[in-house]
Amino acid sequence: MTAEKRILSGIQSSGVLHLGNYFGAIKQYIEMQDEGEALYFIANYHALTTIQDGERLRDLTRNAVLDLLALGLDPQRAVIFRQSDVPQVTELTWVLSCVTTKGLLDRATSYKDKVQRGLTPNVGLYTYPVLMAADILIYRSHVVPVGKDQKQHLEMTRDMATYFNEAFNTDLFPLPEPRFNRFTRVIGTSKDADGNFMKMSKSYGNTIDIFSEGKKLKKSVMSIQTDSTPLEDPKDPEKCIVFNLYRLFATPDEQEEMAARYRAGNYGYGDAKKALLEKINETFGPLREKRRELEADPDYVEDVLQQGARRARELASETMNLVRETVGV
Ligand code: ADP
Ligand code: TRP
Repeated sequence: MTAEKRILSGIQSSGVLHLGNYFGAIKQYIEMQDEGEALYFIANYHALTTIQDGERLRDLTRNAVLDLLALGLDPQRAVIFRQSDVPQVTELTWVLSCVTTKGLLDRATSYKDKVQRGLTPNVGLYTYPVLMAADILIYRSHVVPVGKDQKQHLEMTRDMATYFNEAFNTDLFPLPEPRFNRFTRVIGTSKDADGNFMKMSKSYGNTIDIFSEGKKLKKSVMSIQTDSTPLEDPKDPEKCIVFNLYRLFATPDEQEEMAARYRAGNYGYGDAKKALLEKINETFGPLREKRRELEADPDYVEDVLQQGARRARELASETMNLVRETVGV
């Protein structure tokens, strides 16, 4: 088992999962399930850095699990679990924090961004990258599929693994490789004050949620920000949010067809929005029923998580035993 390639990723349960999460991360998790032993978890301890309401955190975590299972993470092929069910992770976090300099954490851009956005600079937010490194290193993971925005966190994880290996003269931790998706940055439903695209993110309130449906979904699509070019005029598809989101779902031919309509004029943003809405319904519609079935069977979902946690703890305690022996505790 140790020789097998281990794939690992986590997703924070700090909000409802959206198209950015799907195209930037989850789609890849699903595709990679058979590339080795795949482990995927809900990072609820990471979410605790920002969500401090027990009921809400539990609810977001449960919903994230339902989303992942409905989208196609398969408990027969992947180990699916909650971060908090593997206490060894927080134990390793301490050990790693003792070989990590404050200078390394000071360079983390995500901390600065979050604080700038008004989040409380709690110590958990600051040491977030150490917990993330522990998540990855505790399973001695080889490949980590993530969105491009996690690039620095992966580099920091490699740094921490190197510090540990060098400090204790060991090769206990393999250096994990990030695997970025083709869609490195899914844009949100509105532009910034200067008219530039923004990343789709729950913290900007510019998301389309994966399992949104009916009126709510229609409203999110119809309210995507567009400019005031008159219907008859030619339009530049590249500059349009609707076209860029449509692209995520469409074949190259379909993309070309829509782009040509934009350029020809007499094609309104409303028409493009309808086409996008149709694509979203086609893609996720059939999975909504599956999600409802899972939601109606909480025992099954809990079983999946417990089974996943058992396997994760088995691997984690193996690593933690080696770590304790190495560091002398
Ligand atoms: P959010 O930005 O909404 O808080 P998270 O930080 O929880 O999302 O992201 C979870 C995963 O989804 C990460 O791997 C991240 O890279 C990916 N991701 C999130 N938003 C986007 C986006 N707009 N484009 C591409 N990937 C994204
Ligand atoms: N920080 C990641 C995010 O915001 C979530 C995460 C936590 C993660 N631990 C991880 C991703 C370990 C990959 C591996 O998306």
